[in-house]
Amino acid sequence: LHEMDDILGKWSCEIGGTYMPKTYLTIQNKINNWKVSNEDVWIISFPKTGTTWTQEMVWLILNDLNYKGARKNLLKRSPQIEATALVRYPHIKFFKPFIPQAITDSLKYVKNLKHPACIKSHLPWNLLPEAIQKDVQRPKIIYISRNPKDTCVSYYYFSKLIKDFDGTLDEFCNLFLRGKINYAPYWDHVLPFWKRRNEENILFLKYEELKQDLPGVIDRVAIFLGKNLSQEQIYTLADHLSFDNMKNNTAVNYDWLVKLSSKYKADKNSSFMRTGKVGDYKNVMSEEMIERFDKWTKEHTKGTGLDF
Ligand code: A3P
Repeated sequence: LHEMDDILGKWSCEIGGTYMPKTYLTIQNKINNWKVSNEDVWIISFPKTGTTWTQEMVWLILNDLNYKGARKNLLKRSPQIEATALVRYPHIKFFKPFIPQAITDSLKYVKNLKHPACIKSHLPWNLLPEAIQKDVQRPKIIYISRNPKDTCVSYYYFSKLIKDFDGTLDEFCNLFLRGKINYAPYWDHVLPFWKRRNEENILFLKYEELKQDLPGVIDRVAIFLGKNLSQEQIYTLADHLSFDNMKNNTAVNYDWLVKLSSKYKADKNSSFMRTGKVGDYKNVMSEEMIERFDKWTKEHTKGTGLDF
């Protein structure tokens, strides 16, 4: 265990090579020894890569397009297994009575879900349950990725929104590149799943593909989940999953989190569903930072075939 002296260092530390909330240590063993069911679907990602978008798609396909059931908050339909570890800030503690058990006691909540469950996680490969890592159990895993510049910008605005970070975008970019934000280093997260993308139980998606051809991705996900969807069903689902519809859908738009944060004077105009664009980084990142990201990307993806 190596403690950091960074801005987030008060709350986070390195665990197995990953920068994590310190509170993760209290549940690490439980997740490591998790009884994994082959019936479940795990949606795994680095934060801010389109996780919520993917969760809503996967939950609906898995639950035979039950739009009525999808009115229940996504947090409860597709809980984040390690969420308990994230409830660590004083203001979040203060509001604990308003936070559902799916977050405050995520392990218990996930354990009690009916199968096939739709489990969300930002854990990197080497912090996943041993049963998955050792190939003892093979649940379906859908990994969603996004180009690192847009991911970083989205992460920055989200961190500001939840009052997790108080610095400039440039400072945040530096922490991102140095792997000193929760769930980083970014490439250590993405590449192990990219390497396993051809395994039968793993589907590797890119945010940019969802933006370019959402019906095509829905079709691929349905086939992966063993479900048959008609063209009409695919287009209806694509419409449900459009940025504008998701932005207005309180079951998925984290309205409650925004409201909760604004009590602590977070920017009133910020929103979880921010721009939903590819290449938005160009509007806010400096030329120099873009160059640094591109060089860093080139170094880490060399010979891997991964490209956004
Ligand atoms: P931006 O901040 O770039 O807008 P996550 O769910 O992993 O936290 O990712 C959040 C990002 O996904 C945000 O990106 C959010 O706007 C985007 N997003 C969520 N739903 C979307 C949708 N239906 N279409 C496009 N982008 C979406």
